[in-house]
Amino acid sequence: SKGDYRHYMLKEIFEQPEVIAAALEGRLSDEGVLVESFGPEAVAHFQTLKQIHIVACGTSYHAGLVARYWLERYAGVPVQVEVASEYRYRQVVVPEGTLFVTLSQSGETADTLAALRFAKTRGYVGSLAICNVPGSSLVRESDLCLMTRAGPEIGVASTKAFTTQLVALMLLTLAIARAQGGKVDREIITALRGLPKLCQEVLALDPAIESLAQSFAEKHHALFLGRGAHFPIALEGALKLKEISYIHAEAYPAGELKHGPLALVDSEMPVIAVAPNDDLLEKLKSNLQEVRARGGLLYVFADESVGMTEEPEVQVLTLPYVHEALAPLLYTLPLQLLSYHVAVLKGTDVDQPRNLAKSVTVE
Ligand code: M6R
Repeated sequence: SKGDYRHYMLKEIFEQPEVIAAALEGRLSDEGVLVESFGPEAVAHFQTLKQIHIVACGTSYHAGLVARYWLERYAGVPVQVEVASEYRYRQVVVPEGTLFVTLSQSGETADTLAALRFAKTRGYVGSLAICNVPGSSLVRESDLCLMTRAGPEIGVASTKAFTTQLVALMLLTLAIARAQGGKVDREIITALRGLPKLCQEVLALDPAIESLAQSFAEKHHALFLGRGAHFPIALEGALKLKEISYIHAEAYPAGELKHGPLALVDSEMPVIAVAPNDDLLEKLKSNLQEVRARGGLLYVFADESVGMTEEPEVQVLTLPYVHEALAPLLYTLPLQLLSYHVAVLKGTDVDQPRNLAKSVTVE
């Protein structure tokens, strides 16, 4: 039931602190991630793998894109990420020692399942499913699995399923790094443990996000910008907005602005920037300058240390400090809430958007 919440989506957004804690439960020790969490054979697979191919659809694909940044940076493993509907129909080259990974909330998405079946004929060393539904087809047909433990997700728009996938993917990153003899990144482990509380703090910003949503409701387009691992978060923010509010939204890595999309920016175009304090912040800020110079309205999601000054055309939502590695997770929450409130203002069917199904079991 929705309890006191007006929609399942809102309930599911607010469940994130709890389900993220569940996704971590029993999977961490002081020595790092417990590799056996991925199954008894995981240690052998993780020790020897040389690269990873990740395949998924929609929001799950966005989680895969974040994981590429993590796996390459923290585990030093080359990663390729692709949408299942493309992957399954091309002549994929599979280098020796490649692990095949699928990401799926339902475990029944037709293209993802077909991709797994196809992959089995292509010489991978094994398959891993990161999935929310125990006993689903994807879980049954994969060699290894890690359940995301988000609990039932009723809203068509994926929210808690996505953030728990990200938690699972960070666990995967740390587990592989550990199995391959890397040093344990204790800072990230500590940060993971603190994540549920930080999410709680971000959810408390809901009233401020709701008031930001006011100025979106009558817009027809929106542009989401991020850099590095926050580019996929921008993609996910844009998908949420399209899906439930029917506002056309696009996401770009901010450095691409001047290669085309800047032509769209005028005073009618809200631009949402995901701007945690990381290596790319200074570059992102100069991209934002380009938006302001063209009269675009800026909405910046940033952390305390970023020091973005608020002006009439620049609205800043300040988030608590988070370890850089986990910022993609935390910065997802305000974007979910923003889309939710815009959709409510527009009066759409938030939990069951037109033309969409929760689980896409046909091609
Ligand atoms: O169940 P799956 O994760 O395999 O579903 C994949 C997509 O259909 C799904 O993520 C979809 O994009 C979301 N409902 C969007 O919010």
